[in-house]
Amino acid sequence: MSCAELPRLTADEAVAHIQHGDTVVTSGFTAAGTIKACGRALANRARAEHEAGRPFKIRLLTGASTGPSVDKALAEADAIAFRAPYQSDRTLRQRINKDQVPFFDIHLSHVPQYVEYGFFGEIDVAIIEATSISREGHIYLTTAGGASPTFLKRARRVIIELNRFHLPRLREMHDIFVPALPPRRREIPIFHPLDKIGTPYAMVDPKKVIGIVETDEPDESGSLDPYTEIHEQIGRNVVEFLAREMKAGRIPPEFLPIQSGVGNVANAVLANIGLDSRIPPFYMYTEVFQDACLQLMDADRLLGASTCSLTLSPDALHRLYGQFDRYADRLVIRPQSMSNNPEIIRRLGVISMNTALEVDLYGNVNSTHVGGTQMMNGIGGSGDFTRNAYISMFTCPSVAKDGAISAVVPMVSHSDHNEHSVQVLVTEQGFADLRGVAPADRPRIIIDNCAHPDYKPLLHDYINRAAKGHIAHDLRHAFDFHIRFAETGSMMPK
Ligand code: COA
Repeated sequence: MSCAELPRLTADEAVAHIQHGDTVVTSGFTAAGTIKACGRALANRARAEHEAGRPFKIRLLTGASTGPSVDKALAEADAIAFRAPYQSDRTLRQRINKDQVPFFDIHLSHVPQYVEYGFFGEIDVAIIEATSISREGHIYLTTAGGASPTFLKRARRVIIELNRFHLPRLREMHDIFVPALPPRRREIPIFHPLDKIGTPYAMVDPKKVIGIVETDEPDESGSLDPYTEIHEQIGRNVVEFLAREMKAGRIPPEFLPIQSGVGNVANAVLANIGLDSRIPPFYMYTEVFQDACLQLMDADRLLGASTCSLTLSPDALHRLYGQFDRYADRLVIRPQSMSNNPEIIRRLGVISMNTALEVDLYGNVNSTHVGGTQMMNGIGGSGDFTRNAYISMFTCPSVAKDGAISAVVPMVSHSDHNEHSVQVLVTEQGFADLRGVAPADRPRIIIDNCAHPDYKPLLHDYINRAAKGHIAHDLRHAFDFHIRFAETGSMMPK
């Protein structure tokens, strides 16, 4: 059946094929490439079913976070029975933290293989945003690779959201490669961030396609906060560290590909790397291409990037579409199984830079759970990169909430990245290089270089009183900072 023969449906008609209890998967990675009309229609359907006294909730899997038409709309409609692998929506976050939505937080590179291996069970319906679909079932994706190729392969039925807003030429950037299943998986022949090894389209069996929903909507990516002086100082400290490594010959003169995480801090750090001429023009092998990356490309500081999504503000995406020739052969959009692939990250020698909520005196990092219990967004791809990087870095301001919270704590209240994977910590105070440093020396290096001056005496006091061993801790007082914050609103004693 060709594209022209597939039924054209309204979003309401399309989501009428989705039943209570179904596992629904969608395209996209962040708001980029995420469905829009069908997400809102599904939320309306859930509301109508609830008003009629019938249950209606779906199990929802996506590439990463989504735009408001999916997570926000479905959370507000109380339509989510289970969610994985990542989210960044306020309403959904509240529901997760009230234990109303079970949320499974996993490494993003694992999502496609979890689906392939059947670890998530049957996939009932995939809703995939595309610029076009061909007679043979070639699906041309929009601004993200995400997990769409695998979702299209494994879903029993498929709805295509054909979005006219996106430039059909995006196909020139996509490189879709789905690895074989173990034990027959072969090496992945990517030897440079811009190498292409697959096809510009994902495949679907046209018989599975229920129909096409036509839309004309931009991605729902928001803008990031303006950089603060603290963020810029963190960026400068990252540059100092990288420049020192280059001078020492531990980073080759042509530099190494960079991965940069999500959020305000990561965006500001990247912008600062671009400003410093000691760092030569570089490539990125990353999962999210944010506004700062486009600015660096415009300034010829960023030579090219492999990414899973173009997570750009509306203005920046407009700029990219308006001058597509300028970027077409400098950007590769990959599925998350490739953009975050351990084999490639290790081979290319990626320098990873992600953001921590808190770090402890041994280099363990909490990126996800405020106070150990409240989910923020999820681990995302930070673990995929950290565990396999040439140099793994974590950045954060030394204090949060106007100084009421120290980002350096005796023991992290939740551990996402452990001391065995984390190599360098950077705050606006400086950087702590933990490579080759045994636990006995780590607290002093971290406190002296990264902690806020107000908290240094408390942290030194903790470690001086700790029971000695290979790792020194005082388990009776390891969470005093967190307990004090919960009881008084500040980690600082009154
Ligand atoms: N305790 C409580 N709150 C804290 C905190 C701490 N230790 N550290 C930071 N915060 C708060 C900030 O005050 C801010 O709150 P606000 O939104 O109410 O102002 C919020 O967390 C975000 O902090 P910000 O400094 O703006 O950081 P960010 O936008 O760079 O995001 C993370 C930081 C950690 C939340 C974000 O990077 C993330 O979700 N990381 C995990 C996933 C990941 O790394 N993905 C990338 C892989 S490629």
